[in-house]
Amino acid sequence: MAFNDLLLRTLNGEKTERPPIWLMRQAGRYMKEYRDVRSKVSFLELCKTPELACEVVLQPIDAFGLDCAILFSDILVPIEPMGVNLDFKPAPYISNPVRTLEDADRMRLVNPKTELKFVMDAIKLMISKLNVPLIGFSGAPFTLACYMIEGEGSKSFLEVKKLMHNNTKAYTVLMEKLTDNTISYLQAQVDSGCPVVQMFDTWAGLVSTYEYEEFIFPYVQRVAESVKGAHFIYFAKDSSSFYPLIKNLNCAALGVDWKTSLKQADAALEHKFVLQGNMDPALLFADKATITKYANIILEEGKSLKGHIFNLGHGIMPQTPVENVKHLVDIVKGV
Ligand code: CP3
Repeated sequence: MAFNDLLLRTLNGEKTERPPIWLMRQAGRYMKEYRDVRSKVSFLELCKTPELACEVVLQPIDAFGLDCAILFSDILVPIEPMGVNLDFKPAPYISNPVRTLEDADRMRLVNPKTELKFVMDAIKLMISKLNVPLIGFSGAPFTLACYMIEGEGSKSFLEVKKLMHNNTKAYTVLMEKLTDNTISYLQAQVDSGCPVVQMFDTWAGLVSTYEYEEFIFPYVQRVAESVKGAHFIYFAKDSSSFYPLIKNLNCAALGVDWKTSLKQADAALEHKFVLQGNMDPALLFADKATITKYANIILEEGKSLKGHIFNLGHGIMPQTPVENVKHLVDIVKGV
């Protein structure tokens, strides 16, 4: 079968016959095939075994005919060699959180080509088996810092805000190292063959616009400007209030969560970016007629954009009915 380059043409700004579709977290627990593989190994072992990671990357491509694949790993995998004791239960847990300047000073710069060689090996193996583009990814420095400082997920990430303001030096040392590591990690993925990379900033929306401008955006911008040779997608959840800043980001595409319509986002971003999104993942629990209705609204809005990549507004949920995923993909593909 010929290589499906719909995503790459869309990111190049070409007019295409329809938008490409992929789903954030498309390889995962909602699929029986994934659960079968996962029942035999821990999540981290799965991420560190290229053959198994490759197997689960192919599962949603084979099952639904998606237009692109995404590397199977986790945003937290590359922080382990910085000196972090990482576990998944299945939610992330870090037993040695960063709370002081000494903790931040102890964190290491990572050589991704040697210390994360298993990721690069997985990418090369995946690319050899795929006939769609493979998207590489990382967490954004702030979202990684959230887990490293808090030690686990949180509703308020209070420890992060405390460190940011009460020990700005420690916060800055950590963010600088995370930024350097994110640049070299994403560049290594591009050098291993990924034509597109996405940076996830899941928790950026927890801060005020002032704090986003001072404590988060400069690091995002540094990563986006430093990674060469691939299309760059930035996804920050709950970020529409930051669009006056984000519109200055040096990148090809932005992910939009489901709270902002694509049209609203496009206006605030002054029509500068290809937009990716943005169906509410919860809609995949509705009946097929409802899924069709909302997919068509998004497809219609997508037509007025510089370019549109169909996706959910956040990751697909583990309980999602598989037949609804197939239905959504078929609607977008017009089959
Ligand atoms: O999209 C894909 O198919 C690629 C794989 C991928 C995973 N995590 C696999 C995973 C990607 C791109 C991620 C990103 C990620 N991880 C983010 C950013 C995106 C987002 O959803 O906001 C964040 C914040 C994490 C951190 C993380 N990892 C959490 C909060 C959890 C637990 C979530 C849960 O639903 O329990 C994980 C674990 C994780 N990452 C799983 C998978 C498939 C489940 C692990 C398992 O199989 O037990």
